[in-house]
Amino acid sequence: MTRMSIQYIVDPEVTPGLTDGLLRLWADVTNAGGAVGYVPPVAPEEIREVCDGHLAQVAAGEARLVLGVDDAGTPAALAFVHRNSHRLMRHWVGLYRVMVHPSRQGTGEGRRLMAACEETARASDGIRAIRLTCRGGLGLERFYESCGYKEVGRTPEAIRVAEDDFRDDVLFWRPLT
Ligand SMILES: CC(C)(COP(=O)(O)OP(=O)(O)OC[C@H]1O[C@@H](n2cnc3c(N)ncnc32)[C@H](O)[C@@H]1OP(=O)(O)O)[C@@H](O)C(=O)NCCC(=O)NCCS
Repeated sequence: MTRMSIQYIVDPEVTPGLTDGLLRLWADVTNAGGAVGYVPPVAPEEIREVCDGHLAQVAAGEARLVLGVDDAGTPAALAFVHRNSHRLMRHWVGLYRVMVHPSRQGTGEGRRLMAACEETARASDGIRAIRLTCRGGLGLERFYESCGYKEVGRTPEAIRVAEDDFRDDVLFWRPLT
């Protein structure tokens, strides 16, 4: 079977259908154990408010949606690239909600998504670096290191994923030189 390839687009037109596709992707990723703001089980509707928050910033020109779609146009990977509102921090962007559909993880798609995000950041005037945070305990550090990011900080047990399960919040930084 030939696998359909993923094509990356930046700031696609956001229709109700597209938003539903983003929510489905986000829920599928979470329910497969992904660390994108929720713990399983989660339903797409439970994610809508947070997703709408990101999309409002995209509509306002403060963030960009980097979206990977398959040949049928179905969302299969995404991340949000946010500009900073802090006047002294406008030379770098924050990367949020990095995710690849579980059916495509481990095939290099994550690395392609990160490359598309980097290209998007570089296309913005004056951007010199990308910052992101990730949940500890899942091996994600190795993924971001393999994409050229360096761990620059770690807040111990800042994330509570269950009553007795606390995870580090790990800070990564990638200069765009
Ligand atoms: C994290 C994620 C985006 C990586 O995408 P992917 O398609 O699985 O990763 P790739 O196939 O591009 O892998 C690139 C490299 O990272 C490594 N890697 C990927 N995920 C990893 C993980 N969870 N733990 C350890 N290493 C990992 C791969 O082994 C590969 O390294 P290699 O080239 O040395 O073999 C994807 O697994 C995902 O969506 N996970 C769920 C959501 C999530 O937790 N996102 C993180 C938000 S902070």
